Amino acid sequence: MPLKHLQNLPLWEHKLSKEQLEPIWREVNSMQSADYKDYKTASPQLVGDLEHQYFLKDSLPDLDATVQEQINLWEDQSRYLASMNYNSGKHAIRSLGAWVNFQSKGENNPLHSHGGVVSWVLWLKIPYTIEQEREYLSRQPTTQTQLFVGQFALVYTNILGNVEMTAWDSDEMEGTLLLFPSKLKHAVYPFYSTDEKRITISGNYAFNTDHVYQNVDINETR
Ligand SMILES: [Fe+2]
Repeated sequence: MPLKHLQNLPLWEHKLSKEQLEPIWREVNSMQSADYKDYKTASPQLVGDLEHQYFLKDSLPDLDATVQEQINLWEDQSRYLASMNYNSGKHAIRSLGAWVNFQSKGENNPLHSHGGVVSWVLWLKIPYTIEQEREYLSRQPTTQTQLFVGQFALVYTNILGNVEMTAWDSDEMEGTLLLFPSKLKHAVYPFYSTDEKRITISGNYAFNTDHVYQNVDINETR
């Protein structure tokens, strides 16, 4: 008998092309080579225990266009935004910007959620494999740390109301964009095996309540 999957919200992953990644890398590299000068720190708005996190500038418009395109594809299949009945489904969403996380050895992002309605993360550089991390920690007695070391983890309840955690992060995720609901709790565990930085970009989208879609009767009952 086939498995019966109960209704839940699917997340969305998309691998960016080399051409899409190139301008992002160019900006990230110049941020680092200029020692982050001229970039606004995002730290006051973030919970992560990271020294270096900055708002993206030049490559943001093109990246936002890519993210918006993927949100539309996700929405076609998930109807996540349409399920947000409090805005009657008549409003577009808009980007609230994006920031780059330069995570160093031992730094972490504790469990948190975001403002907005759709959030995203783009893995740019994962300078370790989970195997290297577990090997490095194998002398430690803390098996829980070994299980999730260096990983991005989502926390949610299953159909029994039990809290589950799904974690993924490895060098294979480089160049991958993940879309998720902004209120979904997540965390990034620290890594230890390298002095290189783990680099990701994140951003949020909110409903744009300034405008409604054209040709839509906002009094129409859904
Ligand atoms: Fe986050």
